[in-house]
Amino acid sequence: MGGGYTGSERKLVLGALEAIEVALIVVDSSLRVVLYNRAADRYFGIQERLKKEVKRKKGERNPHLKSVIPQLEREINGTVWVEQIEKTVIGSSRRILAPRFSLELANGIKNPFDIHAAPIVNEDGVVTGAVIVFYDVRPQVELEEQLLLGAKAESLSGLASALAHEIRNPLNAISLSIQLLSEDIAKGRMEKEALAENISVLQEEIGRLNRLIGDFLEYARPLRPLRRFLNINDVLTRTLKLYKSEAESKKVRIVLQPGDVPQVLVDDDQMVQVFGNLLKNSFDALSENGTLEITTRMEGDRVVVDFKDNGKGISEEEMKNIFNLFYSSKKGGTGLGLPLVLRLLDANQGYITVHSKKGRGSVFSVHLPTKIAL
Ligand SMILES: Nc1ncnc2c1ncn2[C@@H]1O[C@H](COP(=O)(O)OP(=O)(O)OP(=O)(O)O)[C@@H](O)[C@H]1O
Ligand SMILES: [Mg+2]
Repeated sequence: MGGGYTGSERKLVLGALEAIEVALIVVDSSLRVVLYNRAADRYFGIQERLKKEVKRKKGERNPHLKSVIPQLEREINGTVWVEQIEKTVIGSSRRILAPRFSLELANGIKNPFDIHAAPIVNEDGVVTGAVIVFYDVRPQVELEEQLLLGAKAESLSGLASALAHEIRNPLNAISLSIQLLSEDIAKGRMEKEALAENISVLQEEIGRLNRLIGDFLEYARPLRPLRRFLNINDVLTRTLKLYKSEAESKKVRIVLQPGDVPQVLVDDDQMVQVFGNLLKNSFDALSENGTLEITTRMEGDRVVVDFKDNGKGISEEEMKNIFNLFYSSKKGGTGLGLPLVLRLLDANQGYITVHSKKGRGSVFSVHLPTKIAL
């Protein structure tokens, strides 16, 4: 408080610090506590603790911050607060704004706080102490958790209804074929051709259901990426080996143009899956003698892998759907390839962009991180 305050104003300001609901502690430059307000006491049980402390160290007027809130001397989320305040706030005269630190309350329960610490500087610019404020953010955290749970339930129900819809189509076809078969049998109409046709519909639809379930399980599997720094050109070469014979049988040409790019931080098996899905989609879009060009390049601080085909392309209308679960324009497609690509890239902090022109071809670009984004 500046020298300009009268005695009664000083009282008023101190009273205000006492009255506010956020916990506040003021320390001097050697981290001795000059003031803690009522809210701080209520949260952290300071007075109780100091009573015991004073018995041991008689005559000490200002206790050290670490005996007022001992947790601040321990490492919490990688930070030892006593050290941080000493070094950053007092030593370098900088503020700390740290969200969501879990501190134990007087009753032993953990509670999330946003912690702000700021230097107190005198007229000569010298740091004479620090003010530390603890905002209780439990209400916000609880609200966020509720929203997250709601979103999860929502996406689960969306997923379940989409899957049910996909299963119902082949089931309807199966039940219709069985009905026709049983009518034929009842009427004694057992022509070989009609029977064979109904049975092949049954086999086809059962095969479709099987594929759907298999692909869906693959899609919904929990992803735990094992991220390592690696050369993406090597991963591409590895993927291309796996799909070499498929490319040859479809008579498509693959041109790999590896750029001089830094290492990326990703799970290599998951990248093989991403690239594999994009390769298969291009093979399907290309006609014989079509070309798929794969290029690696830098864009900002990301490595980009372009898959450029001169196949059938995607119309603007279709573009709205291609990443939707179960959207497929192919007879045998389950429409889970691109959604899986999205999930895999998301888990690896990457993303995908698409440019396409109907009848001309498409470019799918995979953007991958070269640094960790925390
Ligand atoms: N390179 C491409 N060129 C043209 N269309 C594409 C291309 N890639 C994807 N598509 C369109 O996007 C749709 C969805 O692709 P996705 O990989 O999700 O499913 P799918 O290939 O049809 O089936 P699945 O991958 O599950 O076997 C495809 O059916 C196709 O219409
Ligand atoms: Mg696909």
